[in-house]
Amino acid sequence: MQEGLAPLAGTAEWRAFVEAAHRADRRAGTLRVVEAAGLSVDLSTQAQSDELSAAGASLLAARDFEAARARLLEGGIANCTENRAAWHTALRAEEPPGRVAGRVLAERDRVRAFVRHVDAEGRYDSVVHIGIGGSDWGPKLVVAALGYAGTRRQMRFVSNIDGHAIEAGLIGLDPRRTLVVVSSKSFNTTETLHNADCALRWLREAGIADPWEQVVAVTANPDAARDMGVAPERTFTFWDWAGGRYSVWSAIGLPIALALGAEALDGLLQGAAAMDVHFATAPLAANGPVQLALAGLANRNAFGYASLNIAPYDARLVHLVPYLQQLEMESLGKSVDLEGRPVTVPTGPVVWGMPGTDGQHTFFQWLHQGPEGAPVDFIICREADHPYPEHHRLLVANCLAQREALLRGKSASVLEAELAPKESDPARAAWLARHKMHPGGRPSTLIVLPRLSAHALGALLALYEHKVFVQGLVWGINPYDQWGVEYGKVLATGIARELAGKAPAGGHDASTAYWVAQWGNGGM
Ligand code: F6P
Repeated sequence: MQEGLAPLAGTAEWRAFVEAAHRADRRAGTLRVVEAAGLSVDLSTQAQSDELSAAGASLLAARDFEAARARLLEGGIANCTENRAAWHTALRAEEPPGRVAGRVLAERDRVRAFVRHVDAEGRYDSVVHIGIGGSDWGPKLVVAALGYAGTRRQMRFVSNIDGHAIEAGLIGLDPRRTLVVVSSKSFNTTETLHNADCALRWLREAGIADPWEQVVAVTANPDAARDMGVAPERTFTFWDWAGGRYSVWSAIGLPIALALGAEALDGLLQGAAAMDVHFATAPLAANGPVQLALAGLANRNAFGYASLNIAPYDARLVHLVPYLQQLEMESLGKSVDLEGRPVTVPTGPVVWGMPGTDGQHTFFQWLHQGPEGAPVDFIICREADHPYPEHHRLLVANCLAQREALLRGKSASVLEAELAPKESDPARAAWLARHKMHPGGRPSTLIVLPRLSAHALGALLALYEHKVFVQGLVWGINPYDQWGVEYGKVLATGIARELAGKAPAGGHDASTAYWVAQWGNGGM
């Protein structure tokens, strides 16, 4: 329990911040680009003013930002409900902090040695990776992003408990040439254990005498992996102080090295570590994660935007949106502050989106003309890695155009003037103008990566991690637990037992009881 934290809405600093946001320029009167670990974060089309910057700084001071940041980076207790650190930064530091240096470096070396061994052996041409949530999105995102033009071996990622997922994950592979990686922080996750079981059966049914020899585990619970049958020398560990959704920097990154080589994993870690240094040392006004967080706070709480759209203008970042959905929504989807009181202001927004330009033909209509709108994070690379320069020009043009349209809007009077020569009936011109009108003034951020290197991708992910930390701090919530997910898991375990006839059905609402009876009677 943490005491002494003032309810946010009642503080003078919060009121000053919200009021300053309302008075700020929201029409990009001034260019405002923050350089952060090689990324350019253009916040020009967010609310901005000297008054708002000062209010943001005072707000952070009132929430004891510097002490909290130091506690996070030094491995103090950041996750109060589970009484542990959230020390993902230690996993990627070139020289990890002394307290954990030995363990972190030793495991890093073991991962690299294993990949060298697998490469030298030449035995596997496919990898089936089994894991879910934070034990899936990170490696899957990075492998798709950096392995878009091919990977060193075929990579399949299986996460869902839907049997079609494991079926698709195994189909067409040669079991004798397939390595199975089971990743789970807890080694207790239903989806992962069942899918691992299936994969093991698949190996066994192919006549492989010792299927465990083709299985490696990545976990913070090595005892459970051993009990399941994975040998300690094929078990890679990380620790409870690395949150699941912050774990790609640990041995959870193993599939990245298997798919792309250890250099890719090293580059990713280095990029994230560079963002850590930036976050720790850059002055507030030039601090990318801090400024991104403050812009998000203004959007959520001063302007009432309930969601944040992520628009990566890069087809390789196909998994970035779900990765950030887990990072942001599992971290910031909280209604209780650190003292256990109901929060006094809305917290984390809904995060959604998809790569552009596909998104433009899917939901951008809503962004431009829907009554609510949403702030958008546009993400794009300065340089592409393909041989089609005209494609990249058009991609950039679309990205910039969408931002400009959201900001500038188009008024009814301008439209009426445009329509007048074509429409003889002025009433129809006015009517049509209203349909074509764009309100404008809709905020966005443009994040430009030099190119999609492992380093830049690592920096990008760490940028969002630190943004989430700052927002969690201001809202006074714990961004490192996820009790909401745990509750559903408990209920699912009970219902699964009922469906299997291992427990009597009971205690349900009318609808759940009806469907449990339907499936239960079918003898599942
Ligand atoms: O979705 C809830 C969650 O607990 C995540 O935080 C975690 O990333 C995921 O489940 C998977 O958990 P594990 O790595 O323990 O299998």
